Amino acid sequence: MKGRIAVLGGDGIGPEVIAEGVRVLAAVASRFGHIFEMEALPFGGVAIDTFGDGLPEHTLKGCLAADGVLLGAIGGPQWGPDAPVRPEPALLRLRAELGVYANLRPIAVQEPLRDASPIKPEYLDGVDLLFVRELTGGIYFGRKWRDGDRAVDECAYSVSEIERITRVAGKLAALRRGKITQVDKSNVLETSRLWRTVSERVIRAEFPGVSIEHMFVDAAAMHLIRRPRDFDVILTENLFGDILTDEGAMLAGSLGVLPSAALGDGRRGLYEPIHGSAPDIAGRGFANPCGTILSAALLLRHSLGLESEARAIEAAVATALSRGARTADIAASGSATLSTQRMGDAVLAALA
Ligand code: IPM
Ligand code: MG
Repeated sequence: MKGRIAVLGGDGIGPEVIAEGVRVLAAVASRFGHIFEMEALPFGGVAIDTFGDGLPEHTLKGCLAADGVLLGAIGGPQWGPDAPVRPEPALLRLRAELGVYANLRPIAVQEPLRDASPIKPEYLDGVDLLFVRELTGGIYFGRKWRDGDRAVDECAYSVSEIERITRVAGKLAALRRGKITQVDKSNVLETSRLWRTVSERVIRAEFPGVSIEHMFVDAAAMHLIRRPRDFDVILTENLFGDILTDEGAMLAGSLGVLPSAALGDGRRGLYEPIHGSAPDIAGRGFANPCGTILSAALLLRHSLGLESEARAIEAAVATALSRGARTADIAASGSATLSTQRMGDAVLAALA
């Protein structure tokens, strides 16, 4: 088949990890007889420096025309909170323009990486959870303004925004263990009370085999560490999802190994590792490319319908890890580590 993939390296370690994702996609194309047209487009801080805009018009056009978008990372200290133009709004705009309101962040513990997690191994048995984070609403997208010495960020959610993301969670839960934990702060926030009512109604009415429980976000932050295996699908709003997924990533050992998919109503999606641009290690060639490579697998699965190809990539990453391939973030202290490119090589070798 023929697929169009927009490739946005972005900032920091983004281009380094993306290069490995692209190599793996090219290898899959030749092994399975597909043509992936991959177009590299400027995005993020580097695009601000060159074009004055983190999401230049032609980048947006290229993304809208693609079947899937593979993104590295954005941001860096040179475009800090006080910079005149910052890269983060470009990412939010891209998510909104693509209409990708459902952010899937699966967290599974890869057996060879149990020791890389800061959590005691006995807590990690059977951990397999999926965050469904609402991605195009809430406080990220509310009006923001300064008023004298005050600053205001509005947080709003509509019934239809909650309904559609709940349906995504319901469908996915039905394919898994059938359990949704909806996380909010409904003892304090009005938006959270709406989340609770609407998600409860949708699941009860439309997903008979799926159960839904509700949990306050502070308690969820604790239980995620204390009894992570009890969670199946965690459904939550934009900001809580941002925070909890970084926490959840620690179960898997490193932010570096986790992929994510952002989907809307169609097939087109935005795929990115859940780690950031890691400016402290950028350009040094030792970032972990696994999160990006696994994001490429999600792109093949969700946007191109290539399930066997996606599985081949996932198996190759697992094989490389079980053969001992480790970047610095997941290596036991004192043991040998691979560069970003050598880690890519290890995955490619396992794919062959
Ligand atoms: C993420 C990131 C982004 C977010 C930032 C870069 C705006 O932290 O994808 O989790 O908060 O959504
Ligand atoms: Mg985040």
